[in-house]
Amino acid sequence: MTKSIFARRRAQLLRQIGSGVALIATAPETARNRDTHFPYRWDSYFYYLTGFVEPEAVLVLVAGKKPRQILFCRDKDVTREIWDGYRYGPARARQALGMDEAHSITKLDALLPKLISDQPAVYYPMGAQQVWDERVIRWINQVKALVRTGVSAPGEVKDVRALIDDMRLVKDAAELATMQRAADITAAAHARAMRATRPGLMEFEIEAELLHEFVRNGARAPAYTSIVAGGANACVLHYVDNNAKLKGGDLLLIDAGCELDSYAADITRTFPVSGVFSAAQRDVYELVLDAQRAAIGAVKPGARFDAYHEAALRVLARGFIDLKLCKGSVDAVVDSKKYQQFYMHRTGHWLGLDVHDAGDYARNGKSRMLEPGMVLTVEPGCYIRPAKNVPKALWNIGIRIEDDVVVTKSGRHILTAAAPKQVREIEALMSSAA
Ligand code: GLY
Ligand code: MN
Ligand code: MN
Repeated sequence: MTKSIFARRRAQLLRQIGSGVALIATAPETARNRDTHFPYRWDSYFYYLTGFVEPEAVLVLVAGKKPRQILFCRDKDVTREIWDGYRYGPARARQALGMDEAHSITKLDALLPKLISDQPAVYYPMGAQQVWDERVIRWINQVKALVRTGVSAPGEVKDVRALIDDMRLVKDAAELATMQRAADITAAAHARAMRATRPGLMEFEIEAELLHEFVRNGARAPAYTSIVAGGANACVLHYVDNNAKLKGGDLLLIDAGCELDSYAADITRTFPVSGVFSAAQRDVYELVLDAQRAAIGAVKPGARFDAYHEAALRVLARGFIDLKLCKGSVDAVVDSKKYQQFYMHRTGHWLGLDVHDAGDYARNGKSRMLEPGMVLTVEPGCYIRPAKNVPKALWNIGIRIEDDVVVTKSGRHILTAAAPKQVREIEALMSSAA
C-alpha cells in the first residue's frame, strides 16, 4: 500500500474531527518469557493511518485551520540496530510516511500538554488500555494546572475509534486486493490440508501443512490460532488443542486463515478424514452448504446485516426438522431458539485488519445496511453433541463452512471461492491425492 493511501486516511480523519487533537498509539510488545517476546503485531488503528510497523510509536493529529500530522517513534540507536535490526528514527520516518513532523518517543510527555493546550477535545482509543487512559488524564491535568497563565484545557475526551471504525468498515481497492491475496493463500492452504489428510495422522500435522502454505507465500502468521478439529472436537467451537489422532470415519473441521500485509482471511472447511463422506455426514454437510448458499444470496447492498444470518437460520431450522433434531414448524424452531442446541453462533462478522474487524453491526437498535466495499464472513454450521433427543447416527458431527465475501455494487464477490467446498470437489481432490 502506498504512502498516499495512509495520508488520505489521515486527512479524512482530520476533516471529521474538525477541531481537536487525535492520539493513536501502536500496540506494546509483549514478553513471552525471559528475553523473548511474542511475535510483534502492531495496532490495527495505528497501522490503518500510518502503515508503520515499529513498536513504540504514536500518531498525533492536530485538527483545525492548520492541521498537523505528527509521528512519535523510536530514535535511531546503533547498538540496538546491531541486535534487533533497522529503526527508522524520527527524521527518516517523517519522510517515509509523509508526516509534517516527527519526534523521538521520549519527547511525548514533554510535548503532548502543549499540543492539547487550547484545543476543545482529545480523541483517542478511550478505555482500550489503562496506561493511555492515565496518560491522557495526566496531560489534561497538566494543562489545567496552567489555566491561570491563560491556556485552556480540552473540555471533552472522545473515543477516536468511533470515527475510524466507519472508515475501516468500507474497504478501498488496495485493501480488497490484499484481502484477495490473503484469501487465495488461505484457500490453497485448505486444499493442501485436504490433500494431506489421512487416518492416523495427528491434527497438528495438518496444522503444519496450513502454516507451511501460509509462510511460503509470505503470510508470516495466521490471523488467529488455527482450529484443526477431528470428530467430536469439531463440536468445541474454539478448539485449538489440535493434538488428537485423526480417525477414518470422522470429519475434520479446519478454521484457519492467514494474515497477509496486516489483513486477515478466515476460511472454514469440513471434510471426511477418509476422503469420502458417510450418508449421515453428507446429509448434514449438504444442509450447512444450503444454509450458506442462502446466506450468501442475502449479502447485497441495501440489505440489513442481520438478513443473511436470518436466511441461514431458516434453512438450518428446516433441515433440523427433517433430520429429526427439532420438532414443529420452521417458525416455531426459530422463535423458540430450539435450533441453538445445534447452531449457537451468529452467521458471520466483519473482516479486515482484524479477523473480527472494526465496525458496528447495529445503529440505534437497527441492523446496519450493507454497502459496497464491506467485507464479511458467511459461516453457518451445525454441531451435534450426543443427547437423548438426537438420532445416534448424527452424534459428534460438527460442520462449519465459512467464506469471505465482499459486498459489491451489483451484489457480492466471494473472495475465498477457490477453497473447495462441494462434496464432489472435496472427494475428487482427496482421492487424487491418495
Ligand atoms: N476464525 C474465527 C471466526 O470464524 O470467527
Ligand atoms: Mn473462522
Ligand atoms: Mn469467522
